[in-house]
Order: sequence, then C-alpha cells, then structure tokens
Amino acid sequence: MAERGIGPMAGKTVLVTGGTGGIGKATAAGLARLGARVGIVGRDRQRADAAAADIRRETDASAVDLFVADMSSQAEVRRLAAEVLDRYPRLDVLVNNVGGFWATRHTTADGLEHTFAVNHLAPFLLTNLLLERLEASAPARIVTVSSGAQSMGRIDFDDLQGERNYQGQRAYNQSKLANVLFTYELARRLAGTGVTANVLHPGVVRTRFGAEDPARLTKLLVPIARLFMKTPEQGAATPVYLASSPEVEGVTGRYFANGKPKRSAERSYDTDAAARLWSVSAKLVGSPDGPPSASASS
Ligand SMILES: NC(=O)c1ccc[n+]([C@@H]2O[C@H](COP(=O)([O-])OP(=O)(O)OC[C@H]3O[C@@H](n4cnc5c(N)ncnc54)[C@H](OP(=O)(O)O)[C@@H]3O)[C@@H](O)[C@H]2O)c1
Repeated sequence: MAERGIGPMAGKTVLVTGGTGGIGKATAAGLARLGARVGIVGRDRQRADAAAADIRRETDASAVDLFVADMSSQAEVRRLAAEVLDRYPRLDVLVNNVGGFWATRHTTADGLEHTFAVNHLAPFLLTNLLLERLEASAPARIVTVSSGAQSMGRIDFDDLQGERNYQGQRAYNQSKLANVLFTYELARRLAGTGVTANVLHPGVVRTRFGAEDPARLTKLLVPIARLFMKTPEQGAATPVYLASSPEVEGVTGRYFANGKPKRSAERSYDTDAAARLWSVSAKLVGSPDGPPSASASS
C-alpha cells in the first residue's frame, strides 16, 4: 500500500469515468494506491460516495474526489467537464471507462440511442472538452476502455442510432469499435502535443456489466461464466498500466490487451472511417465545425 503522497503517480491527477463500480472503481483504486489524486465520475451520488469511501479505505488515500453526472446526457457531460476544469488546475490522465450493454433500444434525454451515446459520444465529448487542460498538463495520457467486441464491430453510418434495426450486441460491438477508431484519430490529431491516446480490452471481468438490461442468454449463462471471469482488479491491470507505467511513456495510438499491444480489428485502421466518425460525432454533440468547447451552451 502506497503511503499518502508517495508513489510513482504522486502529484498526478487522474479522472476515471464509471468509477463507482467494476473495472473503473478498481482502476481508480489502483491509481490511488500509486499515489495519484483520483476523481471518480458516477451518476448516482450515494453510489459515488460509497465507492469513494471504499477506495479511501482500501488504499489509504485521502485524495479521492467525486463528480456526479449522468453521462448519457450531453448537458451533464458539459457540466461535468466545467466542474473538472474548475476543480483541477491540471489533469494528467483521463480514463474513459464508462460504458455498458443494453439488450433493448433506449433513447437518452438528447433523443440518441443509449449505447452509442454512453459508450462513444460521452467519452468523445468529455475528451474534447478536457483536451486543452490535458495538453497544458503534458505529458498527459488518455486511456479508453474498449472491448474485444470491437473485433466484431461495424460502424453503420446509415443507421448509427439503430433506428431501423437494433440489436444489443450489434450496438455494443459498434460502440466498442468506435472507441478504437476515436482513439486512433485522436492520437493522430494529438501528434506532437505530448498527450497520448491508447485504447484497451480489459478481459472478461466479473462486474455489473449488462445488468441494467441483460440479454436473455446472458441471464442464463452469466452465473456460470462468472466463475471463470477476471476480478475487477485483474480487469483494471491494463488501464492502470496504460495510465501510469513509464514503459508506455510516449506510446500512442495503440490497442492493448493483457498489458500488451495487440492488433485491433482491420476496420479500426480505416482512416477515412475514423475521420467520418469524428465528424459525425462532432455534429451529434452539437459542434458542426470541429471539437466542441466547454463554454458551448448545453
Ligand atoms: N466486464 C467486462 O467483461 C468487460 C469486457 C470488455 C469491456 N468492458 C468495458 O469496461 C467498461 C467498464 O465496464 P464494467 O464491466 O466495469 O461495467 P459496470 O460494472 O456496469 O460499471 C460501469 C460503470 O459505469 C457507470 N455508468 C453506467 N452508465 C452511466 C451513465 N449513464 N453515467 C455515468 N456513469 C455511468 C456505472 O455507474 P453506476 O454505479 O451508476 O451503475 C459504473 O460505475 C465498459 O466500457 C465496458 O464496455 C467490460
């Protein structure tokens, strides 16, 4: 256990979305243990309070901050970014971990399909809103939690919102491929700034993943499969490594699994698709001409 203020991440500030449970909470704890000041984002104040208290107790770290925002709403993401900019004069690492699986189609307050909104548009918007602060804090890192499901993903530009045909697994695969395309495009845009962007598969991990609206098959199989899954701490190993290890200083635009670089789906290397996804995403978050800004109205 690292003593307060001591450790390889001492003096660094990290923000972890989806930090109230599962992989995100374990990632936040892992980075707190290394001495970082950690901010966790959750949508429910009570759960966020409880998670922060757990992390403080487990790691002996006092510097654990809470941010409450429902990241399915763009207004909430903008408010979150403004609060982070207000409270954190520097930001060394952003871990885009928030995400989930929904078997049936839901829409958000913005009228967007929920999987695409939470898994892709929320990290896209939050990252862009925090980019100047990350650049000013360089060397800084952006770590995005995708999934092995990216390998089955296809970006359906004609039906991004699953309006014509929604299937939970297909929407999830698409959103996780979007995480990879976003990261590669971000890394290209950030070349020379000292801010790196990497993306990862955490493994198959025993969490509350998919519990809000599970697929029928998942309900049947998960109780058995859970026996063979990684613990949240094991799932957090790769995000903690990418957020903190000197071994990946300066490494950018890569996909990792089990703490090692790995080739992602062939489709993820399509630079035209990445540029198109960026431009469509910018439009969907209300910024037709490029990255949105924190001052843009919600
Ligand atoms: N578990 C796996 O096997 C696995 C495999 C590959 C990839 N992943 C990826 O790993 C990431 C984390 O998943 P997990 O397994 O740790 O899932 P989890 O246990 O369901 O945790 C998800 C976290 O995101 C938060 N969250 C969900 N919707 C939110 C919203 N609208 N606004 C704000 N916060 C929200 C949850 O907060 P609440 O406490 O409010 O629910 C929770 O903290 C996801 O991106 C997932 O795609 C997971």
